Amino acid sequence: MLPAHYAGGLSSLGPLILSALLAVPAAAQGSDWVPFDRSQFSGNATLDTEGHVQLFWEIGDEYSTYGIASQSSGYLALGFSETGAMTGADMAVGYMDDGEFVLENRWASGFVTPQLSEDQEYNVRLQGGGQEDGVTWFIFEKKNTADCLENQVTVATRAWQWFIYAFSDDNTFGQHEDENKGKRYIKLGSEETIFVNEIVEVQNTMNWTIVQPEITIPTDETTYCYTLHRVPEGDRHFMIAERPRISSDLLHHLVIYACYSPSDDLLEMLGQEPNCDYENFSNPCNGFVTEWAPGMSGRTFEDGYGKPFGSDFYEYVMFETHYSNPAGLEGLNDTASYTLLYTDEEVDNVIGSLTLGDLQVNGWFLEPGQELVAHSTVCTPECTGDWPEEGITAFSVFHHMHARGRHARVQIIRDGEEIAPLSTLRDFEYDFQFSKGLEQIQLFPGDRFITTCWYDTSDDTEPVPGGVASKDEMCFAWVDYYPLSTILACTQYDTGNETLGLCLDTSEAEPTLYETDMLTASYENFTHPGDVCLAPNGTTQNGSAQSGNDGGDDDDSAASTISFGSAVLITLLSLFVI
Ligand SMILES: *[C@@H]1O[C@H](CO)[C@@H](O)[C@H](O)[C@H]1NC(C)=O
Ligand SMILES: *[C@@H]1O[C@H](CO)[C@@H](O)[C@H](O)[C@H]1NC(C)=O
Ligand SMILES: *[C@@H]1O[C@H](CO)[C@@H](O)[C@H](O)[C@H]1NC(C)=O
Ligand SMILES: *[C@@H]1O[C@H](CO)[C@@H](O)[C@H](O)[C@H]1NC(C)=O
Ligand SMILES: *[C@@H]1O[C@H](CO)[C@@H](O)[C@H](O)[C@H]1NC(C)=O
Ligand SMILES: *[C@@H]1O[C@H](CO)[C@@H](O)[C@H](O)[C@H]1NC(C)=O
Ligand SMILES: *[C@@H]1O[C@H](CO)[C@@H](O)[C@H](O)[C@H]1NC(C)=O
Ligand SMILES: *[C@@H]1O[C@H](CO)[C@@H](O)[C@H](O)[C@H]1NC(C)=O
Repeated sequence: MLPAHYAGGLSSLGPLILSALLAVPAAAQGSDWVPFDRSQFSGNATLDTEGHVQLFWEIGDEYSTYGIASQSSGYLALGFSETGAMTGADMAVGYMDDGEFVLENRWASGFVTPQLSEDQEYNVRLQGGGQEDGVTWFIFEKKNTADCLENQVTVATRAWQWFIYAFSDDNTFGQHEDENKGKRYIKLGSEETIFVNEIVEVQNTMNWTIVQPEITIPTDETTYCYTLHRVPEGDRHFMIAERPRISSDLLHHLVIYACYSPSDDLLEMLGQEPNCDYENFSNPCNGFVTEWAPGMSGRTFEDGYGKPFGSDFYEYVMFETHYSNPAGLEGLNDTASYTLLYTDEEVDNVIGSLTLGDLQVNGWFLEPGQELVAHSTVCTPECTGDWPEEGITAFSVFHHMHARGRHARVQIIRDGEEIAPLSTLRDFEYDFQFSKGLEQIQLFPGDRFITTCWYDTSDDTEPVPGGVASKDEMCFAWVDYYPLSTILACTQYDTGNETLGLCLDTSEAEPTLYETDMLTASYENFTHPGDVCLAPNGTTQNGSAQSGNDGGDDDDSAASTISFGSAVLITLLSLFVI
């Protein structure tokens, strides 16, 4: 039922835990051993924790130049990836062959040997490379914009880009050892080297650790537990980094919710044992603060950003832990915790989080037996109309689905016209979740958003329900933005008879439901990987040729021509409320 790579999910938590502990990279690593002229590049970053792999870049208009060097004497590979996973990554693989340095462009359809790309001429071009004195290096140009969606990647030259790397002491390209590979999320196109989806040392912070008292993890396949916590005394604190602790292999996620109008009944949960009777407990705290999901080590905001808490905002949080125990393991204990690093000094950008996607976790189903099946929800202008006139600025989106998740997108419809999407995430991987950094995007009152998740249900024979269990599906997009506004969530709700708009505000305990005719919109179809695409000389290429995985997604959508404005109506989910 789960994709093959998910079956290995538990064992892959081993390195995750390790990287969470080791993840503070030594500051400015020496790179004097790098044999090429480093002054030709404006940016650089260490890719590994030891400083044995160094990356340099110079962003250009059509092509950008990258230099990479590793303290090893075999092939060296650099991949441009959507999620930090191999899936969909566009790679430059360099090695020595008969005294000559060779560079190949490869592409991975999944966690498999990346195949040679058809194009070895335009996308990636070698400028120089070599191997001597225990160092392998090369410099190459890569096109910023993909010609062909399937086996080339468009590089986020003005925002964050995942880089993956692998090296060896053997010049034959092949399977690499765990200690010879890694990933790093890097902001390109800025003078400084900035990392956000990891643990970066920050100065002058206080910390608050939210602890769920020890429990014995139930043998049930799915358990959610809740504990209520009071935030540290004070009016205004600003969280600037988060350090979740991945305390159990069975953790599926950790979420912190803000409680804006806690009832007296709710406050009785303070200091109590975790409430794991989740089927009979409806968490009333619905302000999303943050979450950990597989793939994340920690998160550190850019300088000047902070997520607020304290009596000016909210004073209680609900800590939700989700354990997934499909094997019914017995006698495993866990003490889950989450540390927030914060300051009391005012920050320039006070961050708010907006929940998009399907808050109505139950009551929808995905068609089984489909390589790509979409689920969409719409956030309407009645809700976003409460934003300030000057708008808000979105800077990251955390897309969340479960094991069948393939792609996700949040589209923006403004004044009836679709503009560039807020976020598109291709090749989602459950074990590689993260907060996607955006070029800063202005959102205005009256904007409408379509949040869509695409799933692969080809291994399912029964309709796949939305639901809280790992084996069910979800579709969320949590948007971080500034300055803080009172809107917490914007989506739709199906009563069983009709679909209403849903808006959740910090001032109300319950969401507002309203009738609206804004739940449909014309929009641009998703261009699937494998779509026909144009080679630089204008001939049509067949992008899906080699992929055993993605090829042949929805036959009817093979057009790369954009259906912008073609008035395709979103068919709202066929909802069956349980
Ligand atoms: C690497 O980047 C940093 C800025 O993040 C810069 O100070 C340093 O000089 C660069 N190093 C090299 C060798 O270019
Ligand atoms: C939290 O603060 C305490 C006391 O200042 C310090 O010992 C500890 O290392 C801090 N923890 C983290 C994760 O920063
Ligand atoms: C496991 O947790 C329970 C509390 O749920 C506790 O009673 C028990 O002693 C713990 N077991 C171990 C081995 O720590
Ligand atoms: C929820 O409450 C009902 C009725 O009290 C009970 O039968 C059921 O076992 C409870 N569910 C769980 C998961 O404890
Ligand atoms: C939905 O429709 C059914 C039958 O048509 C009716 O009994 C029920 O009250 C309606 N529910 C709502 C929420 O309108
Ligand atoms: C265009 O490029 C393709 C692939 O690089 C090549 O096979 C083809 O011959 C070229 N066609 C023309 C008209 O140059
Ligand atoms: C694309 O490649 C596939 C697999 O090789 C082949 O079956 C198909 O006919 C090709 N389509 C075109 C338009 O060349
Ligand atoms: C867009 O997607 C819809 C729904 O999947 C489909 O019916 C329609 O044919 C697609 N349009 C184009 C131009 O591909």
